[in-house]
Amino acid sequence: MLLNSRDLRQCTAEAGLQAIDLQARGLAKRFGTAAPVFSGLDFSIRQGDCVALVGANGTGKSTLLRCCLGLLVPDAGQISLLGRAIAETGGAARRALRARTGLVGQKHNLVPRLSVLSNVIHGLLGQNSGPRYWVQGLAPAEARAAAMAALDKVGMTHLALRRADRLSGGQSQRVAIARALVGNPRFLVADEPCASLDPQAGEEVMALFMGLVKREGVTVLFTSHNVQHALSYGDRILGLQGGRIALDAPSTTVSATEMAQLYG
Ligand SMILES: Nc1ncnc2c1ncn2[C@@H]1O[C@H](COP(=O)(O)OP(=O)(O)OP(=O)(O)O)[C@@H](O)[C@H]1O
Ligand SMILES: [Mg+2]
Repeated sequence: MLLNSRDLRQCTAEAGLQAIDLQARGLAKRFGTAAPVFSGLDFSIRQGDCVALVGANGTGKSTLLRCCLGLLVPDAGQISLLGRAIAETGGAARRALRARTGLVGQKHNLVPRLSVLSNVIHGLLGQNSGPRYWVQGLAPAEARAAAMAALDKVGMTHLALRRADRLSGGQSQRVAIARALVGNPRFLVADEPCASLDPQAGEEVMALFMGLVKREGVTVLFTSHNVQHALSYGDRILGLQGGRIALDAPSTTVSATEMAQLYG
């Protein structure tokens, strides 16, 4: 019998064998001489979990996400991502780790003058390098096929050859999601993935994104200022307040009042 990734997750969870994809221990970060943004953060994220990181503006959510992906070096503490201590990985090991992780930002950061297809192929640059992955016309056939498959998942194949600067905000964010998924990442970070969209487009894109990552068994750490999104899409809520983890609980057990207190 062949198991898909979701079935596999369920089996391993039931057997108590669920792997830890991200572990943070004693994490601290400050910028210059300012007060620390956070310190002493301890938390872990299991494989296949979808965790919502919430907290008021400026509490350090984006800073924490960047530390988790190794894009920012913490001042203290350790991060282990997909079984590798980030501080100890360099060169090829760091590139291999990058290839298994992805980031969806608040702004899509597409290359405006390039086609949708070329932009999605850029999502493979973590695994491959060089000009063949810069524009779709030069890309290997399998890279184009993978990018078209990713565009199919977000309902955008019909716009594959359109320039990225001729898309709506919702379409652009769908392309950014396809770019994040094209390399089949195991761990995805999404920093307010729908914040720049109107409520209707935001709902659609969030539902699409979460549907895809859950179906494919990708582990997700996302931030959102939309309390409903955090509670309905997050399996777990991680709340940052005053530089500490003020809340770490399954979303089904978190009340609206507890959420509101994080912003108090
Ligand atoms: N590169 C930087 N240099 C100096 N200070 C920074 C830098 N990046 C972030 N900060 C500061 O660190 C703190 C946390 O910022 P961060 O962007 O992580 O917060 P956030 O929780 O993501 O906020 P928001 O909800 O507005 O996105 C803020 O006080 C911010 O001004
Ligand atoms: Mg932020």
